[in-house]
Amino acid sequence: MSWKEIYENRKCTADEAVRLIKSNDRVILGHCICEPTALVDAMVANYEQYKNVTVAHMVSLGKGEYAKAEYKENFRWEGFFCGAGTRNAVAEGHGDLIPVYFQDVPRWIRNGILNYDVCMVTVSPPNKAGYCSLGVESGYTYQAVKSATIVLAQVNNYMPETFGDTFFHVSEIDKFVEMDMPLVESQPSVIGDVEKAIGKHCASLIEDGATLQLGIGAIPDAVLAELKHKKHLGIHSEMIADGVVDLVEAGVIDCSEKTLHNGKMIVTFLMGTKKLYDFADNNPMLQLRPVDYVNDPVVIAQNNKMVSINSALQVDFMGQVVACSIGKKQFSGVGGQVDFVRGTAMSQDGKGISIIAMPSVTVKKDGTIISKITPYIDHGAAVTTNRYDVDYIITEYGIARMRGKNLKERARALINIAHPDLRGKLKEEFEDRFNVAY
Ligand code: COA
Repeated sequence: MSWKEIYENRKCTADEAVRLIKSNDRVILGHCICEPTALVDAMVANYEQYKNVTVAHMVSLGKGEYAKAEYKENFRWEGFFCGAGTRNAVAEGHGDLIPVYFQDVPRWIRNGILNYDVCMVTVSPPNKAGYCSLGVESGYTYQAVKSATIVLAQVNNYMPETFGDTFFHVSEIDKFVEMDMPLVESQPSVIGDVEKAIGKHCASLIEDGATLQLGIGAIPDAVLAELKHKKHLGIHSEMIADGVVDLVEAGVIDCSEKTLHNGKMIVTFLMGTKKLYDFADNNPMLQLRPVDYVNDPVVIAQNNKMVSINSALQVDFMGQVVACSIGKKQFSGVGGQVDFVRGTAMSQDGKGISIIAMPSVTVKKDGTIISKITPYIDHGAAVTTNRYDVDYIITEYGIARMRGKNLKERARALINIAHPDLRGKLKEEFEDRFNVAY
């Protein structure tokens, strides 16, 4: 049978496709922008067909309706990263988080630690050779498509065709649902004075010719905005957002000094606006590869002058970084933070650095100002990057390097970059904590 015949035979409506999901199945969704909105909506609309269907994913910008309490008999969310749609499911007890480094997700799917009956993804229409592209994502989705018993795909003309490990022959997909929808967009964060100051401190540590990894949140965008005067930067990153496009267009990012994949940006997924997705379409400079390759510390370490930039919710006096929980509330997940902190530390040229950058305080809705630098992590919180792995911590007030410093030196360096109004109290806590004068 020709690929065209296979494709035509497997075309159906979203309602017909989700009928292949059975009660007690484990369903994994394409990661982030690869989530197939039409199929997820059809699954939720047909909720009465299902009992106890597990739904898994990492970052999601979708509505997450399957994670709502009203559907808890039908669906159970059990993923690797919480977001706005799934945090409450964990807090309320009917959802759960599997702690896993992002780089391990494809391996765990391959070796059966994680099993999925159904994988639902978004793909581009088949090209003239009969291959559809996952477009904006390779991450874990590439392996999930290979391993799941049933693969359902929303075919969306808006999905770009990208280079790397994103292609599947139509024969590898069980049902195709044609539904064109503009891809979900994540708008760039607002960059205020605090983020700008943090961006400048980070930029001061980045040499010309460096290769960058940028994490999630406002800080990576702020750092990119401060790199306009650098030369020959490269990208080896779990994700990229719109800011990278501006720097490529300005000739700042050209990947010309990369020691691994020279001339190419290597990423696992894209999360931004139409500007980023248009940039990615058939762009040979960009390669999407699975996360067990991109985030493998041994691979990361092969990039000279590797710099990773991620953010945090809290850092204690010892340099323990909390990035995915607020007290006992699960806020996000480890993502690739630790993968890159470790990869940079192992860099072959000895010049790799990892930066955790964050505002010195957070202001709650009731006006309470909370220092993000604290003597102890909050009760119930989980350490993301531990004190043995941590390197630079940056706030709008400066740079504190943890490596090579003893515990008291670490605490003093951190208090120096805490908010000035809160340093007095932190100094008292230092004396209480260490039994010596500040
Ligand atoms: N105590 C209490 N609340 C805090 C807090 C603290 N110490 N620090 C932050 N918060 C609150 C903020 O007030 C904000 O609340 P709101 O949603 O009600 O406004 C919320 O937590 C988010 O804080 P913010 O600083 O806006 O987060 P961000 O969007 O910049 O993201 C991380 C920061 C750390 C959550 C995010 O980078 C992350 O999830 N990291 C882990 C994964 C990772 O690093 N992956 C890297 C590769 S992708």
